[in-house]
Amino acid sequence: MAEKNILDAFKENHDEKVIDTNRKMRVAIIGTGWIADAHIASYKKQPDVEIVAGCDLIPGKAAAFFKKHGLEGVKTDYASHKEMLADKSLNLDCVSVCTYNRQHAPCAIDSLKAGINVLLEKPMCVTLEEGIEILKAEKESGKVLSIGFQPRFDNNMKMIKKIVESGELGDVYYIQTGGGRRRGIPTPFGTTFIEDKTAGLGALGDIGCYALDCVLNAVGYPKPLTVTGHKGVYFGSDPNYIGYGEHHDYAEKFTTDDFGCGFVRMEGGIILDFRIAWAMNINTPGDSIILGTKGGLRIPSTDCWNGSIGGPLVLYKEVAGIQTETIIPVQSTPYDLFDMKIRTFIDASKNGTPAPVPASQIIYNQAILSGIAKSSELGHEIEIEIPEI
Ligand SMILES: NC(=O)c1ccc[n+]([C@@H]2O[C@H](COP(=O)([O-])OP(=O)(O)OC[C@H]3O[C@@H](n4cnc5c(N)ncnc54)[C@H](O)[C@@H]3O)[C@@H](O)[C@H]2O)c1
Repeated sequence: MAEKNILDAFKENHDEKVIDTNRKMRVAIIGTGWIADAHIASYKKQPDVEIVAGCDLIPGKAAAFFKKHGLEGVKTDYASHKEMLADKSLNLDCVSVCTYNRQHAPCAIDSLKAGINVLLEKPMCVTLEEGIEILKAEKESGKVLSIGFQPRFDNNMKMIKKIVESGELGDVYYIQTGGGRRRGIPTPFGTTFIEDKTAGLGALGDIGCYALDCVLNAVGYPKPLTVTGHKGVYFGSDPNYIGYGEHHDYAEKFTTDDFGCGFVRMEGGIILDFRIAWAMNINTPGDSIILGTKGGLRIPSTDCWNGSIGGPLVLYKEVAGIQTETIIPVQSTPYDLFDMKIRTFIDASKNGTPAPVPASQIIYNQAILSGIAKSSELGHEIEIEIPEI
């Protein structure tokens, strides 16, 4: 073998996963809007998945959705998700909850109560109280509940966690995170992201949850103890707001937030400083940084949250009395993040193994987002209380 071929052989993936296709997982989708397209595309690639049902509040939408995806024989004649979940002939193993945020809690809880494994889109829900009810339903059901944070599977996100876990940073005491877009209120597909009655949380829930997950997952999801926060609308309700290319004519429908920020005290003495925006008069509100007693990590911001990082990570250390910087090259990820989100959920459901993105962690993410909203409404700092479940 030529030298090059031998070296290439070292790089080959020798533990390709074998999927047992004898047992097919029967899957349904609740809510057949925009993100359901990504779920269905990934489910269709899984050789051990049968998509058997789906429903949407809008009559005819689910049937048109499956037709668009070339799927025949999928049952959609349900007036509500409850009616679908009650159809025992479906023998459902798994559901994807792809509804807007305000319907996350009822759909996830009803599915778990029906004994079905749940992949719940992000953010987990709108209020902390809903999140607690979801956790209770998960525990009572003994089923898998995974939350739809596909950036978790990005190799750069994994690298951030590896660096923290390696001890290179020492004791972490301060984190700055967030992000946003200069102009990027998500209205191209309608108003479900910007109306309180459907979304409940605006930029906070839509992209804030990702910025939090990036750093909190890295440091082991410490429990938030207190939150002081603010949320506001500075662009969305302006009839003259002009987004990327399209004129924004939803000003009076805008009833969520386009900016949010917070200061959070967490267990272990970690302070979190956070901000997020759908629109702002600056390119980025700054890189994410993790400060520890032995090192610091800079995570370059992206112009728009895209599930990864804006450039190489930089690790700052003192070595033999010299201040050093180590550049950690951007890692490629050799698979589609969404496919991995679906695959890991199916594997956990099939084998009864822990959820790939556990709700027991994401409840802290939710507590911060809901805490910012609540603190903003009350005008003062609040304490976070999460009962033992
Ligand atoms: N992971 C990601 O990358 C990603 C990307 C976009 C959106 N999302 C999340 O996905 C969710 C949905 O976003 P979207 O853009 O698809 O919204 P959307 O408004 O396009 O679709 C939501 C659909 O759910 C339906 N629905 C609501 N409640 C229902 C119920 N009880 N039963 C049946 N159908 C119901 C609505 O009629 C609508 O068709 C949001 O929570 C959003 O945060 C995740």
